[in-house]
Amino acid sequence: MNDETARAGATATSEVGGAAEATAAGGSLTPVEGLPGAADVANGLTSAPAGQTDRLTAIAAVGRNGVIGSRGGMPWHIAEDWRRFKAVTMGATLIMGRVTFESIGQALVGRTSVVVSRTPLSDLTDSAMGDVDAPSGDCVSEVTQGDPPTRVVHVGSFDEALTFARSLGGAVFVAGGAQIYQLAWSHLTDLDVTQVDQAPDGDAFFPAIDPACWVEVSRDQRDGFAFVRYSRR
Ligand SMILES: NC(=O)c1ccc[n+]([C@@H]2O[C@H](COP(=O)([O-])OP(=O)(O)OC[C@H]3O[C@@H](n4cnc5c(N)ncnc54)[C@H](OP(=O)(O)O)[C@@H]3O)[C@@H](O)[C@H]2O)c1
Repeated sequence: MNDETARAGATATSEVGGAAEATAAGGSLTPVEGLPGAADVANGLTSAPAGQTDRLTAIAAVGRNGVIGSRGGMPWHIAEDWRRFKAVTMGATLIMGRVTFESIGQALVGRTSVVVSRTPLSDLTDSAMGDVDAPSGDCVSEVTQGDPPTRVVHVGSFDEALTFARSLGGAVFVAGGAQIYQLAWSHLTDLDVTQVDQAPDGDAFFPAIDPACWVEVSRDQRDGFAFVRYSRR
C-alpha cells in the first residue's frame, strides 16, 4: 500500500509498489545472511545482542466499538494514519498474525515482519510470500538488502515471535490482528492507538483498554480520529 498497509487489511495498494521495486532491485528472496534462525533464538542457541529493549508496543487503529477489522480487511481508509504507521514503524520489527500478513499481501518495506502461524512455511510462501528460497528448517527470508532491510520471518508461536523480535534489538511492535493482540496483551508495555471516531460493523476487535491498567500519556486530536498513547500502570 501506498503509505501503509499493516493497519492491515486495508487491501494492499502502495506497499505493493514498494515490494515490486524491492524485488527488482534485490533479486529473488534469499535467506538472511548473519541473521539467526528464529528456531535457534527460541532454543537459546543464539543470544540476544546488547541494546535490546524490553518495551513492547501494540499499534492499532480502533473504532469506538473496539472494531479493528471486517472480513479480513480494514473498515476505514485513513491515509494520514497509514502514513503515521509507516513513519513510526520504519526500521522496527513487527509481530503479526498470518491473517493480517496475508491481508497486507507482501512484506512491509524497511521493516522485519515476524509472522505467527501454525501453517508450514511452504504453504505461506505459496500464498502471500511469493517465491521464498529458504532451506528446510530455516524460516528466515529476506526480500531486500536495503537499509533498513525488508524481512519476513515465519514463527510457530507468539512466544517464539517475541523472543526472536527482541533478539534483533530495536523497537518491537505488535501489529495485529485480533488474535495476536490477545496473545500479546499480558506482555505489552505500551499501546499506540489511533482512536477512530466511527463504530463500523466488524468481526475483529481490539482488547478493552482498562483504565485501571493503562494510563493515557499523550493525545493528538485530528479530524475524525486521534493518535493516543497509553503506558501500562
Ligand atoms: N485496525 C488495525 O490496526 C488492524 C491491525 C491488524 C489487523 N487488523 C485486522 O484484523 C483482522 C485480522 O485479525 P485476526 O484475529 O482474524 O487474525 P490475525 O491475528 O492477523 O492472525 C490469526 C492467525 O495467527 C495464527 N495464530 C493465532 N494464534 C496462534 C497461536 N497460538 N500459535 C500459532 N499461530 C497462531 C493463526 O495462523 P494460521 O491459521 O496460519 O495457523 C491464525 O489464523 C483483519 O480484519 C485485519 O484487517 C486491523
